[in-house]
Amino acid sequence: MKSSELRQKFLEFFKSRGHAIIPSASLIPENDPTVLFTTAGMHPLVPYLLGEKHPEGKRLTSCQKCIRTGDIDDVGDDTHLTFFEMLGNWSLGDYWKEDAIKFSFEFLTKELKLPLERLAVSCFAGDKDAPKDEESAKIWESLGVKKERIAFLPKEDNWWGPAGKTGPCGPDTEMFYWKLNDKPTPKIFDSKNKNWVEIWNDVFMQYVRDENGNYNPAKQKNVDTGMGLERTLAVINGAENIYHTDMFDVAHKKLHELLKKENPASERIILDHIRAATFLLAEHIEPSNLERGYVLRRLIRRAVRHGKQIGIEGQFCSKIAKAVIEIIGNIYPEIQKNEKFIFGQLDKEEKKFEGTLENGLREFEKLGKISGKDAFNLYQSYGFPIEITLELAKEKGVNVNLADFKKELEKHQELSRTASAGMFKGGLADNSEETTKLHTAAHLMLAGLRKVLGEDVFQKGSNITAERLRFDFSHKEKMTGGQIKDVENFVNGIIEKDLPVACEEMTIEKARELNAMGVFESKYGQIVKVYTVGTGDNVASREICGGPHVQRTGILGHFKIQKEESSSAGVRRIKAVLE
Ligand code: ALA
Repeated sequence: MKSSELRQKFLEFFKSRGHAIIPSASLIPENDPTVLFTTAGMHPLVPYLLGEKHPEGKRLTSCQKCIRTGDIDDVGDDTHLTFFEMLGNWSLGDYWKEDAIKFSFEFLTKELKLPLERLAVSCFAGDKDAPKDEESAKIWESLGVKKERIAFLPKEDNWWGPAGKTGPCGPDTEMFYWKLNDKPTPKIFDSKNKNWVEIWNDVFMQYVRDENGNYNPAKQKNVDTGMGLERTLAVINGAENIYHTDMFDVAHKKLHELLKKENPASERIILDHIRAATFLLAEHIEPSNLERGYVLRRLIRRAVRHGKQIGIEGQFCSKIAKAVIEIIGNIYPEIQKNEKFIFGQLDKEEKKFEGTLENGLREFEKLGKISGKDAFNLYQSYGFPIEITLELAKEKGVNVNLADFKKELEKHQELSRTASAGMFKGGLADNSEETTKLHTAAHLMLAGLRKVLGEDVFQKGSNITAERLRFDFSHKEKMTGGQIKDVENFVNGIIEKDLPVACEEMTIEKARELNAMGVFESKYGQIVKVYTVGTGDNVASREICGGPHVQRTGILGHFKIQKEESSSAGVRRIKAVLE
């Protein structure tokens, strides 16, 4: 089966069962989560999982592009990827366990025709936060799954979420497939046996985790499911690993033309990392030492180092990216559209690192034990992301003094922010009063920025906590004190007018006609929510947005910009508060 067929089959299956197909959202979380990347299909849906009404209804399905940096060290094995596609279906307070499990079962056994004999499931074993999930197990049994193929596992295995520190979560039931074609499927399911590959996860989101780590019952019970496209494709095709599918074929072939020594782990790392980098670059993230840019840099540099390891001569990253675009550019036109930028950035970053890599490696070889200072020197003078140093050290069987490295980093103001890049923690946007207010303030500020700085200003990301609003936008220069004041005055003027905030559902075409701000990478005919501040001739802001927002601007209080600084090339960052 080809990837396009699996994607299509899944979406059509759920569409014919009343689900609206929604497009993949950006890899940069739009709904102000405090995480760097979209990590699951549910990520863009958090406001709706918390009870906001979704304009397309209560049943949704999508194929969402995702990045999980937590899995980066596992890349190279048979199943892990940093970039992957997640197929999912959602019930927003609609159907519950029985229908969810029946849909999953029917799709696996009837649509994909996977033999029941090779399937197993796990359910939540229960603990102090939630009871044992006998209900799901009973439903599986009623469908013909044998008792010995149902395992009850604790929270580490059978609980999903929240995606950040706080937010919707709950027990889940996971589906596994016995991947070996030549060995009979064991009668009893043992989740520790790696030949059982997890392919799908149905989460029953009936709790919301709060700041204190308590699991409170959710107002709305949702179903959130996720099936890894690449993984499932590999197992149903009986492929040895995820790289032996049409998702990687052209890129794999290209890589084999370039390499001198075969090394499966290095090859896989290159294929995965350059694919992920291609998608990140399509979002106009650029390699840097900060946050998303740092992750991108790390991916490219690690690929370059492994390229060296397998004897590739000259620059190769953009050649692999070209193959990636050939494979999947028709599904994600943004990588086609941004081809030039992607190749240009890859070439630039590869060149930068190539210049120091060899000397850095030589320097590394001279070292015995690696002190924090050594690691810092490799970082600063040779451009080795700390993770590359750690990887090299592991291969050599030596230790790195990470604590000292961190101390060295902390001595450098700008660099210390880097340390948080891969370990960015925090809760997902909640729907508290404070964040709701800041969310509305963000709309007003964007309108103000466009008024003061011009129409080239677009939102590039936002991150809202109960305390403050962080907002990235496109603009080339530092704002002057006067401009900052003007934006503040604009926002405070609208607050004083106490304008109403209205939400209306409309087609994306209508929203475009009305000049609503928003992300337009949406499908034709899609229904979106548009929030308008003010009425008639007095419209201050109009944006496509999931919400929630306040009802009138008057309650926002006083708006203040605390800081304006550079975020990355051509992108500025504002921190603002409501007092
Ligand atoms: N959100 C769930 C997952 O990512 C479905 O596994």
